[in-house]
Amino acid sequence: MKNIALVGFMGTGKTTVGKILARRMNYAFVDIDALIEKEQGAAITRIFSEFGEPYFRKLEADMISRLSCQEGLVISAGGGAVMDSRNVDNLKMCGSLVCLTASPEVILKRVGGSTHRPLLKTPDPLGRVKELLAARAPYYARADITVDTDGLTAEEAAGRILDLVGEL
Ligand code: S3P
Repeated sequence: MKNIALVGFMGTGKTTVGKILARRMNYAFVDIDALIEKEQGAAITRIFSEFGEPYFRKLEADMISRLSCQEGLVISAGGGAVMDSRNVDNLKMCGSLVCLTASPEVILKRVGGSTHRPLLKTPDPLGRVKELLAARAPYYARADITVDTDGLTAEEAAGRILDLVGEL
């Protein structure tokens, strides 16, 4: 089977669901952000604050192009990765592109306490989530499959993805 590449906004469950999928498929799970942090020896927040978002986006695109066609992977890409069409093309080349969604309120509840999401460090995080979701909607629409995770457990979301990928 092809790789599975998970995209979708922060807090939609890419990492949790991705790990379950990898276990069930006997694939390896890779998280683009985690690999960037490891290679750079710096947290994403620090990369953003010291070098800026465009620099992070370059690292992200580079990591995605290196990984997307390695075999047997469930790849979790950061929430903004779809904004660069080269990332979407690369991920689709050897994988099914699966977008996880959730409502702004659920997203905020899931990421509420997290300090490692530089884009949500703002006085009005709910407004920011809504704004970013609207801006990114056309990019997320390029996914082969979309699964709404509101009200689903991570196991249920993984099961739904496996069913839908099987039908592609
Ligand atoms: C980002 C999402 C984050 C991370 C970075 C930027 C985004 O990943 O890549 O903070 O632009 O939405 P997660 O979606 O895994 O939180």
